[in-house]
Amino acid sequence: MSTTEKAARVLKSLKDEEWRTLAGVERASTGYGTPDAGRLSRMSRLPPERVSFATGDLERKGLLTRKGQGFALTREGVEVMALKDYVKKDLIFALGAIIAKGKESDVYEALSEEGSAYALKLYKIGRTSFTSVRKKRAREDAAFRSWMTANYEAARREYHALRKLEGLSPSFPRAVAYSRSTVLLEEVSGVRLSQRPGLEDQSGALGVILGLMRTAYMVAGLVNADLSEYNILTDGASFWLIDWPQAVDASHPNGNELLMHDVKSVTSFFRRAYGITVDPQKGFDYVTGRSQALE
Ligand SMILES: Nc1ncnc2c1ncn2[C@@H]1O[C@H](COP(=O)(O)OP(=O)(O)OP(=O)(O)O)[C@@H](O)[C@H]1O
Ligand SMILES: [Mg+2]
Repeated sequence: MSTTEKAARVLKSLKDEEWRTLAGVERASTGYGTPDAGRLSRMSRLPPERVSFATGDLERKGLLTRKGQGFALTREGVEVMALKDYVKKDLIFALGAIIAKGKESDVYEALSEEGSAYALKLYKIGRTSFTSVRKKRAREDAAFRSWMTANYEAARREYHALRKLEGLSPSFPRAVAYSRSTVLLEEVSGVRLSQRPGLEDQSGALGVILGLMRTAYMVAGLVNADLSEYNILTDGASFWLIDWPQAVDASHPNGNELLMHDVKSVTSFFRRAYGITVDPQKGFDYVTGRSQALE
């Protein structure tokens, strides 16, 4: 059973005191560090003996762990709080099957009561899982920050980037909400472009994708900064650009460099996979509006 499945299972068994204790540990951890029992008792406004009951139970359920004199949340602890948040807001009522297990996140199907299917992305960024240039830089910035902060930040950043893209095209999945290290997304269909599926309009596809990058850049002012065949989904006819936590503003000092990197990733994939050639500089000029068309 994955951490997320454990979190979902344990959700209903938690008592009010346990929720308050979890919330106290979370508040302390995102602030000054790992709270000891005394501080936790003040923060959760519970008598010390109740706190020690709660921490014992939470430890047994795998939601808290001891760290020196204090307590820290586990990944399950973080995820159970996020799930509770979505349930309380009536956004989801059940967790479905796992959709994908990535290096930096696990993605589950989640269902609303009305039957909408969401993709719930749960970040699990660790010290060694950063890959792209941009993400390495982000790691340096965050070097002294905790696992928690990095994952909370990724979820928040992805949510805000997708909100900027909302309504511009159905090819940007809608972000419904975020909580802790998780972001709740509209579920889209399709497989990764990296699997080289057959495309209805092979020669038009690259233009469509560059056109979406152009919309993101020119209308929302965003560069994805990690775009490649792995972060594009397709059903053969439509395309979806996903995975936006590292997106930067077009005005970012390295914005042009990051955009050129994205353009080159996409054009080089189309050359290798489908034998379609577009000069990256032409792609870049089109995406940034320096030219009106690709040719
Ligand atoms: N909105 C969505 N709807 C349906 N499936 C999705 C959605 N978002 C992500 N996925 C699935 O989850 C996978 C991983 O998503 P994403 O690329 O955003 O995360 P990641 O942490 O970068 O994962 P990886 O390390 O594998 O690249 C996608 O390839 C896709 O299969
Ligand atoms: Mg990805």
